[in-house]
Amino acid sequence: MTSDLFSPVSLGSINLKNRIIMAPLTRNRAGEHGVPQDINVKYYEQRASAGLIVTEATPISAMGHGYPALPGIYTEEQVAGWKKITDAVHAKGGKIVLQLWHVGRISHPSLLPNNELPVAPSAIKPAGQAFTYQGLVDYVTPRALGLEEIPGIVGEYAYAAKCAMDAGFDGVEIHAANGYLLDQFLRDGTNKRNDPYGGSIENRSRLLLEVTSAVVDVVGSDKAGVRISPVNPFNDMKDSNPQALFNYVADALSKFNLAYLHVVEGGIHGGGDFEPFDFVALRKHFNGPYIANLGYDKTTGNTAIAKGDADAVAYGVPFIANPDLVQRYKIDAPLNQADESTFYGGTEKGYTDYPTL
Ligand code: PHB
Repeated sequence: MTSDLFSPVSLGSINLKNRIIMAPLTRNRAGEHGVPQDINVKYYEQRASAGLIVTEATPISAMGHGYPALPGIYTEEQVAGWKKITDAVHAKGGKIVLQLWHVGRISHPSLLPNNELPVAPSAIKPAGQAFTYQGLVDYVTPRALGLEEIPGIVGEYAYAAKCAMDAGFDGVEIHAANGYLLDQFLRDGTNKRNDPYGGSIENRSRLLLEVTSAVVDVVGSDKAGVRISPVNPFNDMKDSNPQALFNYVADALSKFNLAYLHVVEGGIHGGGDFEPFDFVALRKHFNGPYIANLGYDKTTGNTAIAKGDADAVAYGVPFIANPDLVQRYKIDAPLNQADESTFYGGTEKGYTDYPTL
């Protein structure tokens, strides 16, 4: 039998009823102190027919925040808020993992405790502007993390992973994509360190591998995935040899027997210029399930699965506008178009009010 988007699949020990995954989507609608609220419960519950929901990227610590109104996963209040979401999704027969996030330099003192400087592998200011509660403000030059601070960062990931499991998630996804902290260590445009965490590909991968090891120790390898974006230029990112870097990363991650590798196969937010990259080759370097993401529709998703290029496909924007995306794909129903003006922040408008069939 050939598989398609509607066939079940297991990602580690997470058993999915279909291969249509809801991609992580930042929506900036959490309550005070990063606590998920009722409107967030409704939003995720509406989308529980996905084979798996990957939550919006969720800061692992106060220093991990980089945008307004993000939920967190490091206080008891936040865990209790997320528990309502995992309960609602599970009651509808869905599966949900939490995406663990530290933004690194993509932040601003006004979003951080005591107006601290954002932290990064190296003190390199990103081009562009931060989204703050006061509107768009130029990025600042971040502070390079000291070697002695790295174990604390790894510990924050482990603690947040424990909080996620306490909140009832089916697993966690380590966010190592899109120009945030772990990606800033991976790629040499942002990592100019000359210590064991900078320089060679092995050194630049070290933090991700230490974080993965620590998270796997907490949740189990069969409940942990990693997301990467080898060529995504978003957040002023570049690397001199992404194929070599990410082939190495995929090889090294294979040693953990992870639930999955989730790959953003291009540039988000409209693309930008990037180097050619062989994702089929990357896939061969990883020993577990592969989730493909970015720009897929039903046809191209099914083709990727039929060819064996992916085990599952993650959809972002289509899930914003179509809570019943799985059913719509199933019967080839027309899709609602997403309203970009309500992607980030606001109320139920453009969040929980998209119609189902
Ligand atoms: C965003 O807010 O634009 C954003 C957040 C997390 C990502 C990518 C983009 O991984």
